[in-house]
Parts: sequence; C-alpha cells; structure tokens
Amino acid sequence: MNNQDEIKSEAESKNGLNDQEQEVKIDNMSEQDKKKNEIKIIAKNKDGLGEKWPEPIVRVQSLAESNLTTVPDRYIKPPSQRPQTTIINHEPEAAAINIPIIDLDSLFSGNEDDMKRISEACREWGFFQVINHGVKPELMDAARETWKSFFNLPVEAKEVYSNSPRTYEGYGSRLGVEKGAILDWNDYYYLHFLPLPLKDFNKWPSLPSNIREVIDEYGKELVKLGGRLMTILSSNLGLREEQLQEAFGGEDVGACLRVNYYPKCPQPELALGLSPHSDPGGMTILLPDDQVVGLQVRHDDTWITVNPLRHAFIVNIGDQIQILSNSKYKSVEHRVIVNSEKERVSLAFFYNPKSDIPIQPMQQLVTSTMPPLYPPMTFDQYRLFIRTQGPRGKSHVESHISRR
Ligand code: OGA
Ligand code: NI
Repeated sequence: MNNQDEIKSEAESKNGLNDQEQEVKIDNMSEQDKKKNEIKIIAKNKDGLGEKWPEPIVRVQSLAESNLTTVPDRYIKPPSQRPQTTIINHEPEAAAINIPIIDLDSLFSGNEDDMKRISEACREWGFFQVINHGVKPELMDAARETWKSFFNLPVEAKEVYSNSPRTYEGYGSRLGVEKGAILDWNDYYYLHFLPLPLKDFNKWPSLPSNIREVIDEYGKELVKLGGRLMTILSSNLGLREEQLQEAFGGEDVGACLRVNYYPKCPQPELALGLSPHSDPGGMTILLPDDQVVGLQVRHDDTWITVNPLRHAFIVNIGDQIQILSNSKYKSVEHRVIVNSEKERVSLAFFYNPKSDIPIQPMQQLVTSTMPPLYPPMTFDQYRLFIRTQGPRGKSHVESHISRR
C-alpha cells in the first residue's frame, strides 16, 4: 500500500462507510462539501470498484492447512453446480477425448492441414493445445516452480501483496465484490506485463529471490507467442496477417498473468476451484500443472477434462476475439475442479486488446446476412462485468449482444 492508499483506507475505516454508503452520505451534504468530496470519490470510483473487499478476506490455503474435514459453507456450490466427477490422475478413457493439438512448427512451415485444424479448433472448441511453440521447456518449468515456491512462503511474505478490487493486482482470494457470494477454492496472484506503464516490479513478489527475473523472461516469451498466434487467427479469419493485432491496438496491447493456486480440498465434490466462466480478454495461454489435472472445458454440453501434454500450452479464445470475429470464433466456458490429494498451480497469461479503444466486430466479418452481433465497448468497460460479478458462465458476453 502506498501512503495515499493508507490514508484513504484509514479514513474509510474511521467513518466505517463503503463506496456506496459514501455516495448516499454525499446527497445530504452542503454544496461546498459536496464539491470538496466529489473529486475524492470520483477518483476512487473511477471504475466503480473501491479499495476494499466487501468482506474480510480468507486465504483458501490457510483453510486447507488448518486440516478441516469439511468445506466451509462459503465454498459449497448449490447441487446443480457441483462437479459430477473427481479426477485425480489422467484417466485412460478420458484421454480418448481431448482438445485439438496443434504443432506450431509444422504450421509455420506452411502445413495447410494444421491451418485447417486450428481454424476448426477456434470455431468448435474455442480451445487447443500447442506444441513446438518455441518457449523453452526449462523456462516453463522454472516459471511454474518459482510460483509454487511463492505460494509455499509463510503467510506474512504473501500478505504484503494483498490485492484490492480496484485493480486486482497482487495476492487475492476472490473474484467479484458481491457480498455473501459463494466463493471458489483458490488463491491467486495477478500482475501486468503490458502496457509498459502498468508493469511495476514493486507489485510483483520479491521472493523467491529469482522470481522477478523468471516472470519477466516468461512474460516476454509469452507476448511473442501471443503475437504469433494472433497472425494465424487473423489469416484464418480471412484478414491480413496483422489485422487482428491492429484491432487490438497494435503495439499497445495488454498482457497480464493470473497465477492460480488450488489447495487440496477436503470435499472436492461440493466445491469448484474456479466457477464456469469465459475469459473476458483476447486470448489466454495457460501453463497447466504438470502433475495434477483440473481444467474442464464445456463441449457439446458436457464437461471435458483436459489432459495436458508435457510442455504444451493450452490456448483459448477470449470474449474480445469472439466479439471481433463476430462470433466466428468462440470464447468457450471452462471451469476448474479440485481434489483432496494434491495442490495445483496454473499460470494463465492473458493477451488483451489495448484497454481504452472500442472493440466491435471487424468490418470484413460483417455482411448483410451476418450483421454485427455486438455494439462497441472498450475492454476497460467490459472487464468490469467479471470484476464486479465474478465468474458467471457466458452471461457477460451473451448480455453484451446487440438488441435489434
Ligand atoms: C483462468 C482459468 C484455468 C486453470 O485463470 O481464467 O481458466 O486451469 N484457469 O487454472
Ligand atoms: Ni479462464
């Protein structure tokens, strides 16, 4: 926390009011007082999210480590949302169905079949795995290991990075600010790589000692991979290679990382590591745990457990590409299940459009028979849905459809 934040939250806890209550109080003020306070409140409510969570934060890791035998009520999903299966290891019968696997080396050497398969994957699955992607296996392992070590540090070392709903940067344990919401069984760390003004080493962990260096290199490599994938998607949509990237704001794209930590769960059949959601951004490149499965993708109304290949990345289309492609490409719902045997760590890298430019279906993909499905909206505006409401299936992108 910087000094200003400290003063602000101190003032807040003194008068005991949250953001909404502050607004009500303002209505009863004199004009002069209103003016004085307005500036403060506007600054604070610029994006509608304040400095404080609606309830005290509980680290899921600390619950898991307290040897509970039952899951606290806050984490128990209503029966219809509970996972049907608990899978610990790769299951042979499930291995038969898996999301498509794409060899990027072969694709970039001009293999037309690969181009076709990645196009089908984007239309039908919204998900695929990439192999021969150019990121060194050692770097992938180092990134995952260093984050595992971070989460295994004592609580005090992590609490200094405790996050707030305002930017979500840092160490967090919930998504959404709705009081009384049923929570997911995970803690996470969220940080920015791009745009450069948002990249702030002080908001990155300083321990373990090599973590900043490793994450920095990892981020640079994934920005490159993201850029390469964008050219493929663009060509496959019938656009110029650079066109999708241009629609993202060219050089000014956003890139951030959410590291998910899913502790062991005493009753995995009652809870979820991450509730069903589609990713709000452009494209996600996920480095899954190499030991423990957990990610499930919705396909033809069933939940498919992804079996990650060693040193592959799992890529998925986010809502912004669904919007830009006028729904040719699908941002598909996914969720994470937990288990009672092993903790799980995953690194979700988000490649996003520049946050303050309007995103809408690309002109070439709009025809008289296929009118634009979505009105323009900036990503800054769009991501407020998930930041306030938390994961809610595909309701965010579906409610964004133009009413005509
Ligand atoms: C996410 C996500 C999947 C996973 O962070 O958006 O979907 O396997 N993560 O952790
Ligand atoms: Ni996701």
